[in-house]
Amino acid sequence: MAPREQWTSKLGFILAAAGSAIGLGAIWKFPYMVGTNGGSVFVLLFIISTIGIGLPILLAEFVIGRMGQSDAVTAFKRLAPGKKWPIIGWLGFAFGFIVLSFYSVVGGWILSYLVRALTFQLDVADFGALFASITANPLEILLAQAVFLLLTIWIVQGGIKAGIERASRWMMPLLFIFFIILAIRSLTLDGAMEGVRFLFVPDWSLLTGGTFLVALGQAFFSLSVGVTAMMTYASYLSKDEQLGQSALSVSILNIVISILAGLVIFPAVFALGLSPAEGPGLIFIILPAIFGQIPFGGFFMILFFILMLFATLTSSMSMLEIVVSTGIRAKYDRRKRAAWVFGALIFIIGIPSALSFGVLSEFTIFGDTIFDFADLLTSRIGMPIGALAISIFAGFVLTNKQTTDELNTHPLIHSVWKFLVKYAAPAAIIIIFVTWIFEILS
Ligand code: PFF
Repeated sequence: MAPREQWTSKLGFILAAAGSAIGLGAIWKFPYMVGTNGGSVFVLLFIISTIGIGLPILLAEFVIGRMGQSDAVTAFKRLAPGKKWPIIGWLGFAFGFIVLSFYSVVGGWILSYLVRALTFQLDVADFGALFASITANPLEILLAQAVFLLLTIWIVQGGIKAGIERASRWMMPLLFIFFIILAIRSLTLDGAMEGVRFLFVPDWSLLTGGTFLVALGQAFFSLSVGVTAMMTYASYLSKDEQLGQSALSVSILNIVISILAGLVIFPAVFALGLSPAEGPGLIFIILPAIFGQIPFGGFFMILFFILMLFATLTSSMSMLEIVVSTGIRAKYDRRKRAAWVFGALIFIIGIPSALSFGVLSEFTIFGDTIFDFADLLTSRIGMPIGALAISIFAGFVLTNKQTTDELNTHPLIHSVWKFLVKYAAPAAIIIIFVTWIFEILS
């Protein structure tokens, strides 16, 4: 039987895990959430949530994953024999399917824009109309989604080292470089400082409980916690790597990229006198319009969509990896077949989401389109429930001796982490839930 693979180094693991974290959450959702939730106060709350709640849960996933040295279902079986905990692994398996089914729709939009940018077809007057026509065109959108999934499958079937790690090793550094180039371009536009102020100078009157909850939800989604993706990645890590440092690096990289995304978008938005609160269209409507007005904008637009493609691919890889590793368990030689079969199933499940901006736009579940419902089901329900269960497992089921050995860090850091996963994280998640249910009922 084929042996279980490992990352070639800690850096390989950090890049892959940061790749999973940094994606649509940081680059697409974060800027429009900052825009619609009052700017810098939201940024601050996001940083606090990431470090105070997201990071401890991320570390819990790393601890469980590396201790288990297996897919999430098997890991829970090994660590708590005879108990129901493997259900968390199965939920991760199911939610991995669902997240990728709608995530790949946006991956497809990015490909559509990139192809247009590369073939000089983005010289249009009305990007709102272009976005609406692309997302409503069933053939184009399904084809683009299929191509995006094919790329994801192709990487994941290559395995941990030759597939996921190799792809992350060149995509992630390029992503950083492109981002820095774009931020410099945006910051040197006339009037850019207004955007910087919007991002960094807090207006305390906007600090509300509701904003805090949105920030916390954003921290979970953008750190990929709760669906066992990070657990699965950590299971390919050797026992001598320090987990705390890796979790901290991933969290900080995620914050840095989120802020860089803000520094690319807001200075440009303000410099051109547009509104920061544009919602999801910020990236597909406002940004291309901005590029259209600056010298060499076409070039920067290509950089931007390549960067978006890398960011979404490295996240999608981790979603497919959850499904593949759980699907094959220890039968590692079945990886290739599993990647293709599950990838194809995800495409089929994703068709209704892809069509929910056109043919199926009238079809709603509890008032949401299928795409929005799949997003809500995972990011507002599945991920918090998974994160809650994972913190409780790490906090109460694993013994102090087990976690001390696994973390291998200063006793004080261990105690603080244990406190956060035992009490602070579960309390925060329960509060988010209860508030949300009240919101729905009222
Ligand atoms: N963290 C990713 C993003 O912000 O785009 C989304 C994500 C990746 C969610 C992997 C869940 C997951 F398992």
